[in-house]
Amino acid sequence: MKAPKSIYVCTECDYQSTKWMGKCPSCGAWNTFEEQEISDLDSADKGPGRAAARHALFSTAVDTGADAVVIDDLEMPSYMRTETGLGELDRVLGGGLVLGSVVLLSGEPGIGKSTMLMQVSATLGKSCRVLYVSGEESQGQLKLRAKRLDIHGANLYLCIETNIRNIIKQTDKLKPNVLIVDSIQTIYNDEINSAPGSVTQVKEAAMALIHKAKNEGISVLLVGHVNKEGGIAGPKVLEHMVDAVIYFEGERQQTYRIIRAIKNRYGSTNEIGVFEMTDTGLSEVENPSEMLLSGRPQGISGNCAVCVIEGSRPIVAEIQALVTQTFFPSPRRSSTGIDYNRLQMILAVLEKRLGLRFSANDAYLNVIGGLRLDEPAADLAVALSLISSLKDKVLPDDMVAIGELGLAGEVRAVGGIEQRVRECARLGFSRIVIPKKNAEMKPMHIAGVELFAAGSIYDTISFFA
Ligand code: TYD
Ligand code: MG
Repeated sequence: MKAPKSIYVCTECDYQSTKWMGKCPSCGAWNTFEEQEISDLDSADKGPGRAAARHALFSTAVDTGADAVVIDDLEMPSYMRTETGLGELDRVLGGGLVLGSVVLLSGEPGIGKSTMLMQVSATLGKSCRVLYVSGEESQGQLKLRAKRLDIHGANLYLCIETNIRNIIKQTDKLKPNVLIVDSIQTIYNDEINSAPGSVTQVKEAAMALIHKAKNEGISVLLVGHVNKEGGIAGPKVLEHMVDAVIYFEGERQQTYRIIRAIKNRYGSTNEIGVFEMTDTGLSEVENPSEMLLSGRPQGISGNCAVCVIEGSRPIVAEIQALVTQTFFPSPRRSSTGIDYNRLQMILAVLEKRLGLRFSANDAYLNVIGGLRLDEPAADLAVALSLISSLKDKVLPDDMVAIGELGLAGEVRAVGGIEQRVRECARLGFSRIVIPKKNAEMKPMHIAGVELFAAGSIYDTISFFA
């Protein structure tokens, strides 16, 4: 049989097939197959860049032939960290940028990635040499942004380039300590016959940069675009290759921005960083609760405040529900900021345990400020906001609800209760609903705060009397 000259590669997951397919059988994405000549793939695989990059990729797991050691005898690694000038970013990175690490910064277009990196390069430029490579903007545009952000410095170099070989050449010439590449999807290798932004190109470019970072101790910050589904465009492998992946959340239309690490080899992934986009760039928000609660409507049904813990910080946010009569055979449910399945579960619990007719109503749920709440501790506030909207009964404005809801309608204990209650009290909330188990385990007395211990969802019904 004649060997095929080309194969088709999925641009999302790198799945390979000899035939073109509309839907990728591996990742399920549509219209992602691209034709690639086999000779390109071979040469890419054999190319010196690829081989070297492979080595770099696995250089933490080298073939040393050394004997195994007892875990207690291993030395504690000491990472050299540099502050980026944005405390909220340092917090998400785990205490600053680790020297020689590769960080991928991702988010929707226009969310503020380039702005953040330009601000970071200004601070880093004070203590080390920074090379900012842009494949997306002209020198004029970069200069305009730099002026807007009031950024200058003899140690900050800008370069408009998309060819990886030229980027490496510039890096060899300037020997920067920090290399910023905005964005990885625009970078290409002219030895590979595949369009910029394709899996092969993105992987190739990232490998070459990671190789550089690891071999020469350069910190690399990469910008990655997101695709329609909200994932990082290009291969998933990009996430595996880098040391940290930081994701921008929040709404472009609103002024606040939230960053979260979805992977971090040098720190926790629980911390979030909160910023506000101003006329002069991103400014840090040290008290996110105050920002999230500002301009809160008073006396409206369907609103309930909640306190979640993000990393080391308690954050008070507001949940809004709208429950209206449905005109569809099956009611509509929509959820922003809370897991959709979690909303379905809470609705089912309320229907079954309290006999509330949610099945005849559409339900819309929203967390104000573009915050995403993953913690089950938000369940009780979700339930109360739904009941409040269904019954059109307003909850007290100074009330917060904290607790996980079980399938039997029981309110389950949550961690860090004292920290949460204190944050709520600091923000002026005087009625705090907490799980009964928490109240029994650790009785608390805080001046001006009334604590309601709820053992089950039935105990909260008095709020709607
Ligand atoms: P940008 O950093 O270009 O986004 P990304 O690189 O993620 O695509 O920023 C985009 C938006 O931010 C743009 O709409 C303008 C706005 N912006 C400000 O509001 N203030 C500023 O100081 C700057 C530089 C940008
Ligand atoms: Mg940009």
